[in-house]
Amino acid sequence: MTSVLFSPLSIRSTEFRNRLWVSPMCQYSCEDRDGVVGDWHLATLGSFAQGGAGLVMAEATAVVPEGRISPWCPGIWEDDQQEAWKRVVDFIHSQGAKAGIQLAHAGRKASTYRDWSGHGSVPVEDGGWTTVAPSPIAFPGYAEPNGLSTDEINDVVYAFGQSAARALAAGFDVLEVHAAHGYLIHQFLSPLSNDRTDDYGGSIVNRARLLLNVVREVRAIAGPDVPLFVRVSATDWLEPEGWTLEDTVTLAAWLREAGADLIDTSSGGLLPGASIPVGPGYQVPHAAAVHERSGIMTAAVGQIVDGPQAEEIVASGKATAVFAGREFLRDPRFALRAAHELGVEVDYWPAPFRRGTFDSRPATVASED
Ligand SMILES: Cc1cc2nc3c(=O)[nH]c(=O)nc-3n(C[C@H](O)[C@H](O)[C@H](O)COP(=O)(O)O)c2cc1C
Repeated sequence: MTSVLFSPLSIRSTEFRNRLWVSPMCQYSCEDRDGVVGDWHLATLGSFAQGGAGLVMAEATAVVPEGRISPWCPGIWEDDQQEAWKRVVDFIHSQGAKAGIQLAHAGRKASTYRDWSGHGSVPVEDGGWTTVAPSPIAFPGYAEPNGLSTDEINDVVYAFGQSAARALAAGFDVLEVHAAHGYLIHQFLSPLSNDRTDDYGGSIVNRARLLLNVVREVRAIAGPDVPLFVRVSATDWLEPEGWTLEDTVTLAAWLREAGADLIDTSSGGLLPGASIPVGPGYQVPHAAAVHERSGIMTAAVGQIVDGPQAEEIVASGKATAVFAGREFLRDPRFALRAAHELGVEVDYWPAPFRRGTFDSRPATVASED
């Protein structure tokens, strides 16, 4: 059958073999707490690439040490980290997938325990650090952050640019700025976490200033050929006080002008307790609205778990591409499976796996050994 999901897509100079992509997923697995990725990342992200994804987006990766969500999260602010990422990227490329990295700063949600080893903020004596944010307003249950000065905000912008340069040197094809899920940039965007009275607080123009400066900086470093995505929380799910879909539509047009190519449309994460109507494809309407009303490409994410569901989203024009997270954790070959579900033949089954294609017959296999 003809499939939009499994047709190639070009953004700037990068061609993706399909539009079913791996959503960024924190692994909290840099065991030496040095932000250097290792075998875990090679095996995990590598298996997604073997499994047919068009793009494998690496997890939230900090642009400065204090921007890590936890002490076990990866970074890309120094040479060892860049080299370690290159090994992962080279393997992803060897499997025909493109590699992306989500550049991130966790702000007041930094320095936390991984969920299997504790709760809340890691104190300094256990390897944690004092966090930073637009305003000294704590995320409920976490330590209070320091408000950033204007100079420190400029340092953050610079750090995103430097990390972008390192990511490109490591071979990444796509850069994504993480502006979602209640992390630093989202903390600036939402009036619920930003009560500044300077150029970075108050009006939506001011609250969006950090993100737009980051996107301009990253675009300037990346040049005209590199796809640049921005992940946003389209809504805080805390209307009318919080960040809303209307705000996202406004922001999307500014992001396009600043040099972003695609809005990766997630939601929530700013505050606990928001009432979120979670269900299959529940964030797809946001991707569709942002695309329709601002013209920028969007990607949809959230409970997208099979081929026909993903195909409908891109074929109907609700989004340009689909990110899937947990379905790739459950089944790293999700993309190959989705192609099978749609009756599409792809030519990128890894050769050593070909005797295991969905329509291979066990009897044939036995007789060949
Ligand atoms: C283990 C795990 C780690 C995650 N880490 C990140 C992350 O680093 N950055 C991000 O933007 N979203 C992160 N997410 C959210 C996913 O990218 C995705 O948006 C979410 O899981 C919904 O999609 P799904 O229903 O396909 O899993 C994470 C999700 C999971 C399950």
